[in-house]
Amino acid sequence: MAETVTLEIEAEIATLTVDRPEALNALNVPTVDAIRDAVTEAEAEGARVLVVTGAGEKAFVAGADISYMKSLSPAEAKQYAEKGHTAFRAIENFPGPTIAKVNGFALGGGCELALACDMRVASERAVLGQPEIDLGIIPGFGGTQRLKRVVGDERARRLIYFGDRLDAQDAYEYGLVGEVVAHDELDERVASLASDLTKKPRHALAAAKDAINAQGDLTARLEREQIEFADLFDTPDQREGMEAFVEKREPDFE
Ligand code: CAA
Repeated sequence: MAETVTLEIEAEIATLTVDRPEALNALNVPTVDAIRDAVTEAEAEGARVLVVTGAGEKAFVAGADISYMKSLSPAEAKQYAEKGHTAFRAIENFPGPTIAKVNGFALGGGCELALACDMRVASERAVLGQPEIDLGIIPGFGGTQRLKRVVGDERARRLIYFGDRLDAQDAYEYGLVGEVVAHDELDERVASLASDLTKKPRHALAAAKDAINAQGDLTARLEREQIEFADLFDTPDQREGMEAFVEKREPDFE
């Protein structure tokens, strides 16, 4: 794994940190590849929750690396976009909840990284947006699709067409982040959410995520839900959860 990404696993919570603070954690190629590898490792190590964040005081991730991108050919830009998509897909498909701990600037590819996570918790200092239009390009790491899923079609178009940057409160009002907390409470809040999620039944969380993320037409997505629902009836957690309810006690999940 490149030195610009670190992975720590503690109490079944993996924390992936993009660690390139001198460039506000901008995503050069080794960093994008390292994100992909870190997610694979977190899954292999059996982490139940993945937290994604940025090192330093200023940035979550300030975007794709503009210094690297400026002289790319279309073919090279396509390869770069494919790498970004592979890494962010790995986050989207991580078999447990993922939380973006948005500690500062989350612009362009940084906003897209946060969008690949299930939840976004922002410091009051965070600034989010898709400013690519003012570089003469568009979001290339999934933003055109994931942003509209999160904030709705018109708001996504406005953010992408105008390139405006939202402060944390406006991002909350847009629905781009799920909550905003004081900067010095961010670590504690995310740790608390992550810890609560480790106590939930693992297979049911993964099934819920798969069903919510399902692709295809409505019929296919509803079928996916039925399959995920039914498959859980083969798990100890389903038996424990229902027996505990009937016996009027707290469930003790695997
Ligand atoms: N790529 C490369 N380097 C970056 C960077 C980026 N996206 N963002 C910041 N940096 C570097 C700066 O060049 C600077 O380096 P030097 O010290 O060597 O000059 C360092 O990080 C600190 O940045 P600033 O001095 O600019 O810090 P600031 O506090 O004045 O401004 C900022 C912060 C508003 C985030 C500003 O850095 C900025 O606007 N960054 C670019 C944001 C952006 O446009 N992101 C979208 C990129 S395109 C994209 O992401 C495409 C895609 O979808 C895949």
